[in-house]
Amino acid sequence: MNFKIIGTGSAHPARSVTNDELSQIMDTSDEWITSHTGVKSRYVCTTETISDVAEAAGRAALENAGVDASELDGIICTTIRGDYFTPSLACVLQERLGAHCPAFDMNAACTGFIYSLDTAAGFFARGRVRKMLIVSCENMSKLLDWKDRTTCVLFGDGAGAVVLEAGENLLSIRISAQGSRETMYIPNVNGNSPFNQAPCPPTALFWHGHDVYRFAVTQMAAELKAAIQDAGLTQQDVTWVLPHQANLRIIDASQKRLDIPRDRFLVNIQRYGNISSAAIPILMDEENRKGTFHSGDILGLVAFGGGLTSGACILRWD
Ligand SMILES: CC(C)(COP(=O)(O)OP(=O)(O)OC[C@H]1O[C@@H](n2cnc3c(N)ncnc32)[C@H](O)[C@@H]1OP(=O)(O)O)[C@@H](O)C(=O)NCCC(=O)NCCS
Repeated sequence: MNFKIIGTGSAHPARSVTNDELSQIMDTSDEWITSHTGVKSRYVCTTETISDVAEAAGRAALENAGVDASELDGIICTTIRGDYFTPSLACVLQERLGAHCPAFDMNAACTGFIYSLDTAAGFFARGRVRKMLIVSCENMSKLLDWKDRTTCVLFGDGAGAVVLEAGENLLSIRISAQGSRETMYIPNVNGNSPFNQAPCPPTALFWHGHDVYRFAVTQMAAELKAAIQDAGLTQQDVTWVLPHQANLRIIDASQKRLDIPRDRFLVNIQRYGNISSAAIPILMDEENRKGTFHSGDILGLVAFGGGLTSGACILRWD
């Protein structure tokens, strides 16, 4: 026994920032950003807190599933950065939604949604839950150095959510980690301890872009291939691939290593940029609401991110 997805939801801040707007505040251009990443615009929090965005996505998923918050047996939020160290974003959400179940956050960076599905599958397998809510929600705009054009142009803010019910639709799932602080990292807040004598780097995203790129392309293809094999399927059986939306070039290069046609890869990075763990559930919600998925479709979810983490899963849509 594992789960099936019975509802999806998503939300984003009101403010959309175009590449042209960015080129007015830093040395970049729509041409560079589009050709190197595929991103045309991204949503960025202005007056919204990330709890507001998470709540909107969670409510949309509950409504889509026809489930009341009081029926939930667990809430998992995946995020790099909630509004507080404590309470967790999941506890903030539990209070706002009026749920009464256990609630906790997970951080596996951009692979967080897949890590959370694997965690949820364990709760279902042990018969501990009948319905769970997962909300993946990221506030990347507050973790970036907006003077660093090599990183900040790629990201955005938003949230995606799913409601899970006991079922048999998770056909396989893999999660991996290759611990590497150096490749991509965001230092934690420094505080103001009068005793601290360690160096205090600013809270901003740093990466070795080419190393991340290589890891991403290799792992996306390898994880998806392995998950398909674990499910006892072939690559031709996959109806839709929902890849992490980090860079259109990474998606295209991964696809070339697989035997799955490009038109089965779903993409919305143009309007969102990279929203870390929220990227896949937002994409899933958009396509679900468009009516893209049909009963019996085989979905391949695949992600990579800070850690370095990666993972993939195969789901049957119901
Ligand atoms: C970041 C990334 C898009 C950079 O693309 P790239 O083609 O490798 O570009 P480079 O880093 O080689 O930079 C090429 C040039 O563009 C410049 N450049 C970088 N960012 C720019 C920007 N926003 N606008 C204009 N020029 C820019 C660089 O300074 C460099 O100039 P130079 O040749 O004069 O030194 C790419 O490495 C990447 O996608 N890496 C993975 C990052 C990622 O996905 N992280 C998230 C993981 S979840």
